[in-house]
Amino acid sequence: MFHPLHVRAVEQLTDDSAALTLDVPPELRAAYAYAPGQHIALRRTNERGEEIRRTYSLCDPAGAAPETLRVGVRLVERGEFSTYALKELTEGRTVEVLPPTGRFILEPRPGHFAAVVGGSGITPVLSIAATLLKREPEARFCLIRSDRTTASTMFLEEVADLKDRYPDRFQLVTVLSREEQHSGLASGRLDEERLTALLPSLLYAPGIPAMDGWYLCGPLGLVESASKALRSLGVPRSRIHQEIFHADAGMEGGVAANTLTTTSTSPARPAGLAGPAGSLPTGSVTVSATLAGRGGSWPMDDGESVLETVLRNRADAPYACKGGVCGTCRVRLLSGEVHMDRNYALEPEELDAGYVLACQSHPLTPKVEVDFDA
Ligand code: FES
Repeated sequence: MFHPLHVRAVEQLTDDSAALTLDVPPELRAAYAYAPGQHIALRRTNERGEEIRRTYSLCDPAGAAPETLRVGVRLVERGEFSTYALKELTEGRTVEVLPPTGRFILEPRPGHFAAVVGGSGITPVLSIAATLLKREPEARFCLIRSDRTTASTMFLEEVADLKDRYPDRFQLVTVLSREEQHSGLASGRLDEERLTALLPSLLYAPGIPAMDGWYLCGPLGLVESASKALRSLGVPRSRIHQEIFHADAGMEGGVAANTLTTTSTSPARPAGLAGPAGSLPTGSVTVSATLAGRGGSWPMDDGESVLETVLRNRADAPYACKGGVCGTCRVRLLSGEVHMDRNYALEPEELDAGYVLACQSHPLTPKVEVDFDA
């Protein structure tokens, strides 16, 4: 559930981004423990009485009982929440926050890991790299980051600090799309062709296919390009972890989502998930859901998603982006069939195990039963 947290500090990172540090009172610290790479949902009610939620990734090293939560927020053009966060969430104000969630995680272990990030996609990867290097002396991390210019690059100091602290175990490669560099790397966008050519020459041992895990985070185009490049270089699919940061309607730049699959690249459809079909007659669909141990069954209104039907009856149903990106609304489909409009959040294994996104699911059968607790 949401709790109001005080803003302890606001640090300007670039012209259009800041890091917000929120205080976690002692009695809530266990509930707000997080793994490196997770995110939190923030919410507010605007002047029109509408509730708006956005998810932002945590950027500090992970902790079991954190005194603070620190997130990076980038201003998005016409982004209602980011405008509010950067202009109104000043020191001492409070904001409502859900406990951390997300499956874009690297639990520290020995090995070689790498990340390709774009723009604010650095946020969860900063936490992943810092936690890994601090806790696991046998681990190495290579960060390939892409930004427009040095001035627009978030968390420059924190990344430089990792380089100073772990000179033998942390490798940094920066690619700027709109600025000349002295590194010998040509400027320009990182696309699939460029990544395929660049990656083998950028990494120290053990080489691309032998890396123990790849973490891709940023805009959809970069993440898809990096994933295709890695697959073509022989990296097994199971070692690639992706998170999309979207900046389209309803999803501002700081929105994080654990992803691996887009609807266009989904694997074979698991039982219960079907393609679009003719809609069922109005009033003929019943949604049953278990949430926080309590069950209920409700008739669905025309055009609703499974999440919307549940929310009309249970205000505590979890969600953040409502756009198929963050994975907060993940449920297990126990019976019936649904069509998902889009999925940037669930991995193929989760689809195979019967998980769907409630915010994207539309029933294809008169009865659909889901479990939010599974
Ligand atoms: S609420 Fe974000 S994926 Fe459904």
